[in-house]
Amino acid sequence: MRIAIQSRGRGVLLALLAGLLPLTGYAAASADWAFPGCPLPPETPAADAEKPFSVPGSARTASRAELAHADVTVDWFPEEHAPLPPIVATRPGKAGCGYCHLPDGTGRPENAKLAGLPAAYIVAQVRALRDGVRTPVRPDWVPSKYMVQFAGGLDDGELEAAARYFAATPARSHVRVVETRTVPHLEVRCYTYGPGAGAALPLGTRILEVPVDVERFEQRDPHTEYLAYVPVGSIDRGRRLASGATPGHPACAACHGAALAGDEALPGPPLAGRFPGYLFRQLYGFRSGARGGEAAAPMRAVTAGLTDSDLVDLAAFAASLAP
Ligand code: HEC
Ligand code: HEC
Repeated sequence: MRIAIQSRGRGVLLALLAGLLPLTGYAAASADWAFPGCPLPPETPAADAEKPFSVPGSARTASRAELAHADVTVDWFPEEHAPLPPIVATRPGKAGCGYCHLPDGTGRPENAKLAGLPAAYIVAQVRALRDGVRTPVRPDWVPSKYMVQFAGGLDDGELEAAARYFAATPARSHVRVVETRTVPHLEVRCYTYGPGAGAALPLGTRILEVPVDVERFEQRDPHTEYLAYVPVGSIDRGRRLASGATPGHPACAACHGAALAGDEALPGPPLAGRFPGYLFRQLYGFRSGARGGEAAAPMRAVTAGLTDSDLVDLAAFAASLAP
């Protein structure tokens, strides 16, 4: 899904179709795999852009042209969540929260699941991103860049309404975590991966997230299912490391709750059933210091000395748990 945002008058236009790039030439050490780019999409023929379509189970229709306008979120399943606060539904000249995080807060691999996060945590993170206390691991990676930009210019009422809404929305996961040594041929899609034609590829020490149906992903269908390919043995290694049994490594549950499902009385947000690529990027960001400030200090200590492979294991384990 493309988040290449071009201003056109007051509107914000997002090109929708993803192009293709072969998934080769990745330097394993640099974790480039966690930041897939967005090849230029092929042009949509004008006639197709206006053609209405729907997604399975939805009673409404939309066109590609409508979906491309990020300032108004297409809400495929309004009956599945409470009424959207205005800032989640629409934001003139920018994008409402629901455009990227989806109206039910399910999120997408390139951003974050917000449903079920504590409201105070959501408010604190948006402010930390706005103020540069939390910087993305790669500030130039387009999804992160726009979140930082869009964290600005919100008034307290808008931010609090969005936070209350997402906190009250139950978290769901449509991601199946699959351990494997090789993956079917994959290509870089827009900030994620998609099936491609060619030979199977070695997974190595990576997490590769792939929508099962790329078209539904591009249509921003919140029911889109994903496979997250993770290394063989990573879930068990992550479980052991998270358990606190390894000297010098505290139990994640102490701050993130039993089964990592969070607990309002504890300082850490829920981790269970969230996108593993997102979790990996955050662990990476704590370790590098990109996520700064006092609130992130415990996580900088937790991640100090962990290898990229440890971070992959922890992310795979947490993502494999039910939200
Ligand atoms: C253009 C897409 C986009 C829009 C619009 C957007 N976000 Fe985000 N958001 C992201 C991305 C990408 C991240 C991950 C940032 C990172 O760490 O790199 C993110 C992260 C977050 C996080 C951190 C989640 C966590 O678990 O720590 C919160 C909270 C958040 N967004 C809230 C909001 C709210 C509230 C709005 C509406 C006012 C909003 N976002 C609008 C893309 C977007
Ligand atoms: C001493 C308490 C503590 C322990 C132990 C701890 N965490 Fe955290 N964790 C936190 C806090 C607090 C935050 C929120 C940080 C912030 O506000 O920036 C957090 C945030 C995170 C995030 C980012 C979530 C998001 O929504 O962006 C991840 C991922 C994470 N922790 C993973 C882990 C894992 C895995 C372990 C065990 C290896 C662990 N944590 C152990 C306190 C802890």
